[in-house]
Amino acid sequence: MTKTPPKLNTDRIFPDNMTTAHALILKAKNGEKGNTTGKRYAVPAFNVTTFQGINAAFKAFELLGSSGLLAFSNSALKHFGSGDPVFGLDVAVDYIIKKAKNSSVKVATHLDHGDYVTDKGRKVVQAAVQRLTSVMADNSTDKSTGLGMPLEKNIEFTREVVDMAHPVGLSVEGELGVLAGVEDEDTQSEFSTYTNPEELDRFLKETGVLMLAPTIGTKHGPNKGKPGDKVKLNIPLAHKLLSIANEINDEIVFVAHGASTLYPNVVEYAVSQIEKLGDPSGAKQKWLDFVGTDWDQIQGLIEAGFCKINTDTENRQTYLASLLGAICTNSAKIDIRWYDNVTTDALTQSYIQKLIMAGDYGVWHEPAIQVEKFKFDLSRSLADLLEEAK
Ligand code: 13P
Repeated sequence: MTKTPPKLNTDRIFPDNMTTAHALILKAKNGEKGNTTGKRYAVPAFNVTTFQGINAAFKAFELLGSSGLLAFSNSALKHFGSGDPVFGLDVAVDYIIKKAKNSSVKVATHLDHGDYVTDKGRKVVQAAVQRLTSVMADNSTDKSTGLGMPLEKNIEFTREVVDMAHPVGLSVEGELGVLAGVEDEDTQSEFSTYTNPEELDRFLKETGVLMLAPTIGTKHGPNKGKPGDKVKLNIPLAHKLLSIANEINDEIVFVAHGASTLYPNVVEYAVSQIEKLGDPSGAKQKWLDFVGTDWDQIQGLIEAGFCKINTDTENRQTYLASLLGAICTNSAKIDIRWYDNVTTDALTQSYIQKLIMAGDYGVWHEPAIQVEKFKFDLSRSLADLLEEAK
């Protein structure tokens, strides 16, 4: 390890409207839209697990002229690759590059929770450096014990990824602190620890990462607290950590993992469909017990300066609610494409909603709808909702 970490090579131009996550998020931190500079906004990173997710996200980005940030977890890549994450990476990236070629917006592809600790994980991170435009080096948890990784080891592994990625123009996101919750079978922890401000300065200086996921109380998954709880994030700590990072380099951007909100209208819609089906699997109570992070808390982070907000769970919930609705509407429809279209439209609604909430629209061009008129409503068709917001 050389003394000074390599700087991100910003001279690399990715083809076909592709760019790094850092480039998109820095624009958000600086409030840049078109040729103007205004209020800071946040870039939602959508975890996509299927081609439907990619199609829906592109549609939302292009309608709104938003930054396009698509994130892939290891298990999503396995799904794309029928069990082989490296093959899945190739398949997903080839598809995205073809879509991005004619896109009206710029798009970044990001490896979420890349693991540079285990041999299997390293192979995926190395492949991601070849094919994506941004990677996360999540070495804050020791995968063998599920406990926090000693700081030295986290720095060492993260720095190896920076050494590999920065010279070829890929941004790297590090994680400091342990985030609780179940994101998917490959990323889970039962407990969380806040990021220690005393470790932050050393971590940032020695790794050279320009993107950091600190832990300030967010949690992955659909149960972010006990039923009825209101999740409370440590906003004062968020401010403190950001002021330390900004002192080092004001191009460092902060990332909120576990940023899914719970949309009451989605829960209501899902519950009404489950009731029509007679609740055969006892799913109604599970839906009613879901706890998300309220938007005012996420807004608190955005105001503090967090500019990438990771969302997966809320979009999965939207997808499932719309699938339940599709089944109730016509349970004898023997056409996979019909269900595919209904759920893709629902995902598009979910993405549009979050981009508007985060202020991420009009970045590359004017939105094709009046954002303040858009109503997120799974009981209506996307075409009607877009027409009404014209
Ligand atoms: P949610 O589970 O809140 O959607 O968080 C997803 C996430 O942080 C992916 O990295």
